[in-house]
Amino acid sequence: MKVKFILNNKVQQYNGDEEMPLLWYLRDYAKLRGTKYGCGIGACGACTVHIDKRAVRSCTLKMKQLEGRAVRTIEDLATNNILHIVQRAWIDEDVAQCGYCQAGQIMSVVAMLESNPRPGQREFSGLTNICRCGTYPRMRKAIERAVRQINLTSGL
Ligand code: FES
Ligand code: FES
Repeated sequence: MKVKFILNNKVQQYNGDEEMPLLWYLRDYAKLRGTKYGCGIGACGACTVHIDKRAVRSCTLKMKQLEGRAVRTIEDLATNNILHIVQRAWIDEDVAQCGYCQAGQIMSVVAMLESNPRPGQREFSGLTNICRCGTYPRMRKAIERAVRQINLTSGL
């Protein structure tokens, strides 16, 4: 089955196993290894990417589901070597411990803030990525920092 989709603003043509998870494509074919494998069953969020601007777990999304869709990975967040506001906030708050879950965490947060730059408890409870190192308090601070930055920058 042929599948045509966009990956980080570039057209991709895939002609292979339609049941293969997108995560395999990203890491093994596209060599984009920022997206991580954790559980493989859609539970941990380490493999989170954006599909049409929404956070999706790429370990459970099959290649055949990608036709005509736009995929964005952590590698596409920085522009011209300038980090995304959320990445910057992550560094400023020194969030990462082992770092394994962090790309997925950041992708989930960016999707949340792109849909609502002033998130409330409802949006925060939609962040279900797991961090085995327990960096949740620092992540919360980084999100709050990013929110301040975004709303300052947009003049809201
Ligand atoms: S590896 Fe995809 S959700 Fe855990
Ligand atoms: S920083 Fe280690 S799992 Fe999250």
